[in-house]
Amino acid sequence: MIPRDPVAAATHADPYPYYARLRRESPVGYDSGLGLWVAATADAVQAALAHPALRVRPAAEPVPKALVGTPVGEVFARLVRMNDGEFHARHRPDVQRAAARFTLADVAGAAEEAVRDLAPRVNANAFLSAVPVQSIARLLGVPPASLDRTVACVEAFVQGIGANASGQMIALANDAVAELVAQGEAQGLDPVRSANRIALMQQSLDATAGLIGNTVLSLRRRPEVLAPGARPEEWRAVVSEVARWDPPVQNTRRFAATDLVLAGETITQGQGVLVLLASANRDPGLNNDPDAFDAHRAVRRGLGFGAGAHACPGESIAVEIAAAALRTLVASAGLGLFAEHTGYRPLPNARIPTFSAVS
Ligand code: HEM
Repeated sequence: MIPRDPVAAATHADPYPYYARLRRESPVGYDSGLGLWVAATADAVQAALAHPALRVRPAAEPVPKALVGTPVGEVFARLVRMNDGEFHARHRPDVQRAAARFTLADVAGAAEEAVRDLAPRVNANAFLSAVPVQSIARLLGVPPASLDRTVACVEAFVQGIGANASGQMIALANDAVAELVAQGEAQGLDPVRSANRIALMQQSLDATAGLIGNTVLSLRRRPEVLAPGARPEEWRAVVSEVARWDPPVQNTRRFAATDLVLAGETITQGQGVLVLLASANRDPGLNNDPDAFDAHRAVRRGLGFGAGAHACPGESIAVEIAAAALRTLVASAGLGLFAEHTGYRPLPNARIPTFSAVS
């Protein structure tokens, strides 16, 4: 069964032959079912991410309609991830600095503590989400007694800003952001910094959950890639290859602020572009022998963390969280927490495996 469309591909058992066909037949093409342009080759993906008229939000709807006038909407409007232009240029350096102040040793320590706390008491699916958020929360100075509540608040926030959020999900997200904003204010942060402090936890949630989960699947398929007692840098190399080969963020979106031409196709003002990051990672123009899983690649190029103005400032943090978390788990209890792989969470852009309960 081939995926229904490029959005469904994100959670298909094996979307990569389908992406290869898109790259061959339609580097940039219009999908009338989705009502979106789709950029599939590495060149088209890079061009889309670099294009000044392709913006992260539709000009007519900078904040999703359902969130306008709500506390969640106020936070959303202040996220660098959701803004372009002058606001983005002014505030992104702060976010980069906030992420850059954590050393890899700090990150590894936070992830190890998160695993020791969570592995004995939560199931695999909850573990995937809670480890990244708890790790960042620890780095941000959230006290141990508030960690579980903070993870729950970040999860509620992520659900509340989702495209299909119900009124009840938005209401829960409003309560959650009030608590998360209060944490930032207690540290003396202004409203923009306070919103982007939440973003460090929110951005890490689904993406790093997927990175940990997809690494578990890769290790199951090819246990020989890591010898018992593998060193931290060997773990990082495997996780980095997973981030290229089976990336947790499969696609992102852009919206045309003016009419423009992308790879020879005319995109009109207001139209959306689905940017297939995962397809780009398997483009032979980006990597040699791209379908091979090779943790020892001399050169690894990936677009799974974006590129250009909005490139992820948390890449090395995410790789370290996943590597340190799995190293800690394997050394203490092995991967027995993860039972049968049952599919993927039903999300339009993230690829997060689901696991059945351990019997
Ligand atoms: C495996 C884990 C991760 C993946 C795959 C990932 C991927 C991405 C991608 C693709 C973007 C760009 C989106 C776009 O251009 O449309 C992005 C942006 C961002 N990421 Fe990550 N991310 C991960 C983890 C993290 C972590 C751990 C943090 C924080 C410590 C983080 C913070 C951010 C922020 C703040 C942005 C917005 C940057 C901007 O718009 O200027 N991410 N991420």
